[in-house]
Amino acid sequence: MNYFLLVTLNKFCRVVLAPLTRTRSYGNVPQPHVFLYYSQRTTKGSFLISEAIGVSDTSHGYKDTPGIWRKDQVEAWKPIVSAVHDKGGIFFCQLWHTGRISTKDFQPNRQAPISSTDKPVKTQTPPRQLSTNEIPQIVNDFRIAARNAIEAGFDGVEIHGAHGYLIDQFMKDQVNNRTDQYGGTLENRCRFALEIVEAVVNEIGADRVGIRLSPFANYMDSGDSNPSALGLYMAESLNKYGISYCHMVEPRMKTIGEKVECPKSLVPMRKAFRGTFIVAGGYDREDGNKAVDKGRDDLVAYGRLFIANLDLPKRFELDAPLNKYNRETFYTSDHVVGYTDYPFLENVV
Ligand SMILES: Cc1cc2nc3c(=O)[nH]c(=O)nc-3n(C[C@H](O)[C@H](O)[C@H](O)COP(=O)(O)O)c2cc1C
Ligand SMILES: *[C@@H]1O[C@H](CO)[C@@H](O)[C@H](O)[C@H]1NC(C)=O
Repeated sequence: MNYFLLVTLNKFCRVVLAPLTRTRSYGNVPQPHVFLYYSQRTTKGSFLISEAIGVSDTSHGYKDTPGIWRKDQVEAWKPIVSAVHDKGGIFFCQLWHTGRISTKDFQPNRQAPISSTDKPVKTQTPPRQLSTNEIPQIVNDFRIAARNAIEAGFDGVEIHGAHGYLIDQFMKDQVNNRTDQYGGTLENRCRFALEIVEAVVNEIGADRVGIRLSPFANYMDSGDSNPSALGLYMAESLNKYGISYCHMVEPRMKTIGEKVECPKSLVPMRKAFRGTFIVAGGYDREDGNKAVDKGRDDLVAYGRLFIANLDLPKRFELDAPLNKYNRETFYTSDHVVGYTDYPFLENVV
């Protein structure tokens, strides 16, 4: 199946579930309540991206985030993915490695977390810089995790290259201070990301691969001196692999009731990239419609609104009122409260 076509032709549901870490996968294994959470948020023909899922035992950096490197994790994902398929959704698995955002507490034998650098971020455990010859193993972890995701039934994977995690720690010049072929020039800093893309494409096929990037974001001290050039270089380089989609996070930040326009723009990257383009970050119904009407973006991913509105596509269609999200329960561990107990539209009016 060609997911590029499938996603772009699915114009009747351009509302994508953004990847959302919810910290309810006790012991890094997704639980039965995770099944309910995703199936609640599935509309026929809609596209869902999973929460970030760890690729290896060194990858996770938060309590109770899921993984897909072990057999029991793969088995636990199977019924969850089936539930989404049963309701007619397309489900991609977001693959991540947190790198230096992790701490000793989450690492095997309380080792230092790994990164492109040994520069620490804030109060985290100082990372250990990967040596050049260790890098192929990390690339391989992504490849195996992608194969596991397909085995679990996912339609494809989204490589998490955003938000200051491991891949971003290589791409951004304010983090990466390597002197080997993975550091220095833009081409060198993007090499790790593109090697992962290539390995994953070779393993599961380009149609089943997307990537998420946030060139403009500087979370966790992960800024870059020229984010526009970085984003454009990645968009152009990705064309070589023919991947299904590129998912970019907007440079703007928006707070409730106030729109902050940012002079920077994803438009050059959208023009350069030949597959499906997904945008995310601060979108509401109106902005999302505008982005799609102008033919600028193919799909729009919603995060916080989708946490609180499990029937978001329907509410958008009807222009119905929205539930408010409760930030306090984003990362708590209760398997119901703030997770699967937001009301459906029928139960509100
Ligand atoms: C609770 C929460 C968890 C998130 N987890 C992830 C994640 O696992 N992977 C990721 O790429 N982005 C993650 N994000 C970022 C969202 O995908 C999205 O880009 C962000 O919330 C902005 O979109 P919004 O304004 O529609 O919420 C998370 C955001 C929130 C609020
Ligand atoms: C990178 O920066 C850190 C912190 O300043 C320093 O300890 C390290 O030696 C630098 N690495 C290289 C390869 O220059």
